[in-house]
Amino acid sequence: MEPGKTVLITGATTGLGLAIARALTKTDYRVYLTARQSSLPRFDMHQVSESEHVRIRALDVTSAEQRTRIVAEAERDWGGIDILINNAGIAYRAVVEHVTEEERIAQMDVNFRSPMELIRLVLPGMREKLAGRIITMSSVGGMMAMPTMAAYSASKFALEGAHESLWYEVRPWGIKVSLVQPGFIDSDGFQRVRHTPKSDRSKHELAEPYHEHYVNMGPFIERLMKSSRATPDSVARVVLKTMRRRHPPLRVPATLDALGFSILRRILPRNSYHWLLYKMLPKVDTWGPSPKRVSSLPPATKRDGSDER
Ligand SMILES: NC(=O)c1ccc[n+]([C@@H]2O[C@H](COP(=O)([O-])OP(=O)(O)OC[C@H]3O[C@@H](n4cnc5c(N)ncnc54)[C@H](OP(=O)(O)O)[C@@H]3O)[C@@H](O)[C@H]2O)c1
Repeated sequence: MEPGKTVLITGATTGLGLAIARALTKTDYRVYLTARQSSLPRFDMHQVSESEHVRIRALDVTSAEQRTRIVAEAERDWGGIDILINNAGIAYRAVVEHVTEEERIAQMDVNFRSPMELIRLVLPGMREKLAGRIITMSSVGGMMAMPTMAAYSASKFALEGAHESLWYEVRPWGIKVSLVQPGFIDSDGFQRVRHTPKSDRSKHELAEPYHEHYVNMGPFIERLMKSSRATPDSVARVVLKTMRRRHPPLRVPATLDALGFSILRRILPRNSYHWLLYKMLPKVDTWGPSPKRVSSLPPATKRDGSDER
């Protein structure tokens, strides 16, 4: 434990962020629990409140003004941020064709651009102290990309690449950089996944070319989450352990499946790995222009333009 150090966590009112926030309030760290202004009342609902060591602040990670304000406050009052936990994130569920440029930018903005900007703000203070920790929530989606999750995976792969560079860059100042990689977690995070207008329509319309992708992937991922033994609390414990390790690794698999996938990825030849995962996709033989599927559809739902529903 490092009493007196100041921790800032983003997106702390739900899911993993809330579990980490609760765990942090039980430590001796000085803590900034942050969330978007509109989400702050949730802290009250979950009986998380301010104390001498805990401050609750509004921080929309995409707002340059709010990022600058909170880092300046921490520098003025508590000697700056010693440990930054980038947790806030959003996830679109949509195939590549169904994500517009605007949606892709929104995905990258919250998951990649904003945490990198926060990191840029806290690094000068950390370099001055010759110490500091950056802990960023990556994902199994940052080591493997599943169908319908391209935009999300792109954002996590981007984080992985940037943090790998950062790990080398700031090591000379004693700053430790870690990516925590949760896999499937038994949580309600599933309900907060966003569909784009196009992916939503395809999910509901049988005649849409990617219909089978959505109706099979959604429940598949939900089943994997529900059957996982990992919980937000178990991942929070991994984050706190990473904060306290003298030599934390760059990549920290936070669930058993994340560990399994990282081993598979290392030991299997890349082509075999992709084929194995492809074969494991739910009902993948019914995806796309399967003659079986098209002939089994009622005439009105075939892709002949006769039914637009
Ligand atoms: N749960 C999983 O299975 C899982 C697996 C792998 C990785 N992860 C990663 O772990 C992190 C937390 O995931 P989670 O499952 O706990 O997700 P979650 O329940 O959806 O929580 C995400 C949090 O991010 C916040 N957020 C979104 N946009 C924001 C913004 N612009 N500024 C500030 N906060 C913002 C949300 O706040 P609002 O309520 O205000 O929108 C919410 O509190 C994410 O980075 C996610 O990618 C999760």
